[in-house]
Amino acid sequence: MCMLSADVAKILIDEVALRQRVRELGEQISRDYCGQDLLLVCILKGGVVFLSDLMRHIDVPHEIEFMAISSYGDATESSGIVRIMMDLAVPIKGRNVLIVEDIVDTGYTLAYVKGLLSTREPASIRICALLDKAERRKVPLQIDYVGFEIPNEFVVGYGLDFQGRYRNLPYVAVLKPERYRKQPGK
Ligand code: IMP
Repeated sequence: MCMLSADVAKILIDEVALRQRVRELGEQISRDYCGQDLLLVCILKGGVVFLSDLMRHIDVPHEIEFMAISSYGDATESSGIVRIMMDLAVPIKGRNVLIVEDIVDTGYTLAYVKGLLSTREPASIRICALLDKAERRKVPLQIDYVGFEIPNEFVVGYGLDFQGRYRNLPYVAVLKPERYRKQPGK
């Protein structure tokens, strides 16, 4: 079987729910940043699908920039060691920064990124995460905009991957247990 969807055990958040919630977040962000400068900082690669939908529901002028972070490798547990693979290409001093991320798990990644960006003296810095595994948190972190709180399960789809794959699934899902074993060539 070559279909990616055949690897899915259950759909946690379907396309309709995602569309509705992302629209609500965009509307809320538009209200909150009305009349203000706004810079969306998307965390690659996982945040990219969320960003592309979210920004189309943000009805105020804004710019987008990208940062690439690695904290997982190919595992399903955070290593706690956060590495910047690609830094921002622009200064953020005096800007209103909104970090756009796919999921907050232990919180290590965003606590590190927020701390790092704060040293660059933005006017404000907030976090928007599509998914929040709140029960897994290891470090305190304020998430200003949350799409969905989810249980402690490793999820894929809508930008989230396992070993680099499944980002293109249009929903958030849990894979069949045998699929979380290491795959050939990975
Ligand atoms: P944290 O540092 O533990 O909060 O992990 C954040 C990063 O881990 C996210 O940006 C994701 O890339 C990855 N991650 C955490 N949980 C999941 C999951 O359930 N599926 C896919 N990636 C995840």
